[in-house]
Amino acid sequence: MLKLNKVSFAINENENEVHLIKDASISIPPGKFMAIVGPSGCGKTTLLKIIAGINEESSGTITWGGRNLSEEDLAASEVGYVPQFSIAFDELTIEESIGYALRLRVNKKQITNESDLVATIIEQVGLKELSDRKVKVLSGGQKRRLSLALELVTNPTLLLCDEVTSGLDPRSEKEIVNLLHSLSQSTERIVVNVTHSLNHLDLYDIILVLYEGRVAYQGPPNKITHYFSVESAEEIYPLLGCRESQEWHNSWNKHKHTYLIEAEDTHYENQSAQANPSPSPVSQFYALISRRFKIFTRDKTQLILQAAMIIGFPLLVIVFGLEGITQPKTLPTNNTGSIIEQFNHQVSVSESQIKTGSLISGLIMFQVILLTLIASNNSAREISGEREIFEKERFGGLHTASYIGSKIAFLTILVLIQSLWMGIFVQICIPTLPGSPVTRLLILFLVTAAMTSVCLGISGLMKNPEQSSLMSIYLVGFQLPLSGAILALPQWLEPISRPFISAFWAWSANLDIMTGGYFGQSIHAVTEESSLQPLNVCIAWLSVHILTGIFAAYAGAKRPQW
Ligand SMILES: Nc1ncnc2c1ncn2[C@@H]1O[C@H](COP(=O)(O)OP(=O)(O)OP(=O)(O)O)[C@@H](O)[C@H]1O
Ligand SMILES: [Mg+2]
Repeated sequence: MLKLNKVSFAINENENEVHLIKDASISIPPGKFMAIVGPSGCGKTTLLKIIAGINEESSGTITWGGRNLSEEDLAASEVGYVPQFSIAFDELTIEESIGYALRLRVNKKQITNESDLVATIIEQVGLKELSDRKVKVLSGGQKRRLSLALELVTNPTLLLCDEVTSGLDPRSEKEIVNLLHSLSQSTERIVVNVTHSLNHLDLYDIILVLYEGRVAYQGPPNKITHYFSVESAEEIYPLLGCRESQEWHNSWNKHKHTYLIEAEDTHYENQSAQANPSPSPVSQFYALISRRFKIFTRDKTQLILQAAMIIGFPLLVIVFGLEGITQPKTLPTNNTGSIIEQFNHQVSVSESQIKTGSLISGLIMFQVILLTLIASNNSAREISGEREIFEKERFGGLHTASYIGSKIAFLTILVLIQSLWMGIFVQICIPTLPGSPVTRLLILFLVTAAMTSVCLGISGLMKNPEQSSLMSIYLVGFQLPLSGAILALPQWLEPISRPFISAFWAWSANLDIMTGGYFGQSIHAVTEESSLQPLNVCIAWLSVHILTGIFAAYAGAKRPQW
């Protein structure tokens, strides 16, 4: 028996305590199918999240058999939570989605035949004919069935569904309610379904009417009209508004003994957790990596965009250096001409040095800025774009470290391709570009990795993909003006902004590896002394950016954002 005893949930609003759920006492025997109904905003989702353990109750106790769930959380495999909005990856098929859910949530040792199990679950939710259809083309009802299937992989003893029937036509709604009913009956599983709808109430074993956070009724469907003294269930919502929620609550407390469904709670009493261990972090990591690559290769828009940037951006860079980099003029060792001739010569040498220096500095900065743009596209939405799916999977036992690890592995491969190709292509087309090509490749890799990592951090910290994309684009936009490469920064601003500008450190590191050769004077001619930082300092700063981004991504992912 699942029992809630005087459970309340309060939030602080303008320093006042507001109860979203107040003194809810609810009992659900094993094998029962319960509906939580009530007008919009009455607290149905909040109550479901309290039962699931996503929201922690402010007072009261919740027990499951003999276990006190206020002290001991349900194991990830014991509870299935189907959120209000269907969430799955558009590019995967039904079969793949369920297969990955299985690999992320169920330990390999417990599965004898993975494909058989996936097929059984697909059949159970009535999607057999559509198993190889992609999620993006499924209808609303089919998506709800898939959401249910994703939760059935652990065979949970408690299945909590939030509005899985809302927005469906009456026939589909009935089919899904029937499906949920059968899921409660085949095992001793408790199935709770939150719904606005007062149709098909007779298919449930128990109806819970919630009004403004308080329980107004909990009992069998055939007694509900009697309790509210109405002809049909549709009349209940208008009636609820006629009295204060506290009055409904008091009235229910007075009469509840006539309506409550009790059950023998024998073999569930003092039952220890039936938890199945989650898969190891390493096997979750491999499942996530394989899924990420599959989604990446199927996302045509992203593929075209990546190809356009990987091929197009290096082309843009070489356009400016096609004529090659000519060595600057030098002053003759024995100065014999007149003073005017010597002066003219000096001017022409300086002009030639400035021209060459500007070309080199500009080419390097352009290359670096384009790579930061590629980098922000890599990761600005990487976590925020799938946050809801991640939250649900984490609730289902996914380790945050496996998740972030899979992001790092995936992005490292992307970054390697992008930065190496940019470096190698430009070097082939402009072979006169001074400095060690290998060191330059390392710097280009580091700056792309640094920006990708920082944007991944932003993506982990922000609430939605729009926010994180905007922040990342701003960050890229500020790289050039704050690098000091175009305009010298005011002295007070330099030490404040410079540490945050990855492009500056990559640009400076690139110039540092050139200052020793023929081009040293040209580079000195166009750059401030303070802009020329030693290579190892630049590499250290870029490494700090990479580590900070990873840390921010991990910390952001750890913080629940339901
Ligand atoms: N974290 C929160 N902070 C502040 N208010 C909240 C929070 N969560 C929920 N609420 C408020 O609590 C009330 C109940 O929300 P809940 O989502 O539980 O309603 P609901 O009954 O599920 O509504 P619907 O049927 O529209 O989904 C709403 O007024 C909502 O705005
Ligand atoms: Mg809701």
